[in-house]
Amino acid sequence: MTMLKIALSAHILGFFQASLLLSCYASSTSQERISGSAGDVLEDDPVGRLKVFVYRLPARYNKRVLEKDQRCLTHMFATEIFVHQFLLKSPVRTLNPDEADWFYTPVYTTCDLTPNGLPLPFKSPRMMRSAIQYISTRWPYWNMTEGANHFFVVPHDFGACFHYQEENAIARGILPLLRRTTLVQTFGQRYHVCLKEGSIIVPPYAPPQKMETHLIPPDTPRSIFVYFRGLFYDKGNDPEGGYYARGARAAVWENFKDNPYFDISTDHPATYYEDMQRAIFCLCPLGWAPWSPRLVEGVIFGCIPVIIADDIVLPFADAIPWEEIGVFVEEKDVPNLDAILASIPPETILRKQRLLANPAMKQAMLFPQPAQSGDAFHQILNGLARKLPHDKSVFLQPGQTFLNWTEGPPGDLKPW
Ligand SMILES: *[C@@H]1O[C@H](CO)[C@@H](O)[C@H](O)[C@H]1NC(C)=O
Ligand SMILES: *[C@@H]1O[C@H](CO)[C@@H](O)[C@H](O)[C@H]1NC(C)=O
Repeated sequence: MTMLKIALSAHILGFFQASLLLSCYASSTSQERISGSAGDVLEDDPVGRLKVFVYRLPARYNKRVLEKDQRCLTHMFATEIFVHQFLLKSPVRTLNPDEADWFYTPVYTTCDLTPNGLPLPFKSPRMMRSAIQYISTRWPYWNMTEGANHFFVVPHDFGACFHYQEENAIARGILPLLRRTTLVQTFGQRYHVCLKEGSIIVPPYAPPQKMETHLIPPDTPRSIFVYFRGLFYDKGNDPEGGYYARGARAAVWENFKDNPYFDISTDHPATYYEDMQRAIFCLCPLGWAPWSPRLVEGVIFGCIPVIIADDIVLPFADAIPWEEIGVFVEEKDVPNLDAILASIPPETILRKQRLLANPAMKQAMLFPQPAQSGDAFHQILNGLARKLPHDKSVFLQPGQTFLNWTEGPPGDLKPW
């Protein structure tokens, strides 16, 4: 061990003991209000600010897809199902399409699962095309805007690019028929072809009941400095290394596998959720996509998310003060992660922990059933409401057209 490392460890240790005490203190103080506009936006109420018309589609686009595989209700893409269910019962729903601000097409494109539970998005483009064909021939509203007042939930890895491998997703681009629509998606990365401007970025779905059953007393000391469970390498899909997580996860492992302050491993223990409640920092590195459920878990369990994903666009970034609750580390700085985290002053850590303790923050990350005030579904509606009124350019002039129905890979044009 070099002198520098010894000095650093001593520093971390001293800090660490202090923060243990401080975290007990933190949980007993009152919650801190979120400063400025972010807090106000977080507590916006969408009711009365928008009217949504829900198209009625044949069951094969939604209900029957779900009946085939109930796992679609609990996997991280379940948002597409809950948004549908909640909208049907929401006070923002209107049965009169002539007064609607927004149109919603309930199509579950992410519910075709392998035996292992991984969604295969290969049929999604055809399914989506078919659904759009269906609504555009039976109602006049699609043709009036070519979808510009329609929103779609596309929670898959790379949203409406409909491929789980990034190169292929980029090559495909956003499904041409969706180019004028508003996309509600999990994928968020700046300057990426799969992120359309104006999209609403949502958290991945994490089962609220399951998380609740794992809560431990909030005054439990946070005795773990850094916590992470997950892959460091993906040998199957990236045998040479370097592509997966752009090497950032490999760098975490290689630099910190022997560091006693880093509780990191590929093993996924039964106490995973409890462990996060015993940790100060939870690493949220990119994987194949920049986002992962760890972002949600960090907020719910009060573990400061350490976001390692350059150019990530975070869920509800206009309502959640990610800069204040999280720590951002550039991918190239991973080798200095220990020094970066150890140099954060205890007051800063305390403040982040207090912000994370705010129930409004946690509520915004979750889709409780039924929907509740301030939850992630409400934040989606808030996002849609903030886009109103629509610009006049949304409505097409007679004869005006933008979409090309035969654009895209020939395979996508086959009937579904
Ligand atoms: C909308 O436009 C398409 C293509 O131009 C057409 O086939 C369809 O009938 C139109 N829908 C309605 C409801 O008029
Ligand atoms: C529509 O797309 C197809 C396939 O890319 C192309 O062959 C055709 O020329 C396009 N039509 C128009 C009007 O741009």
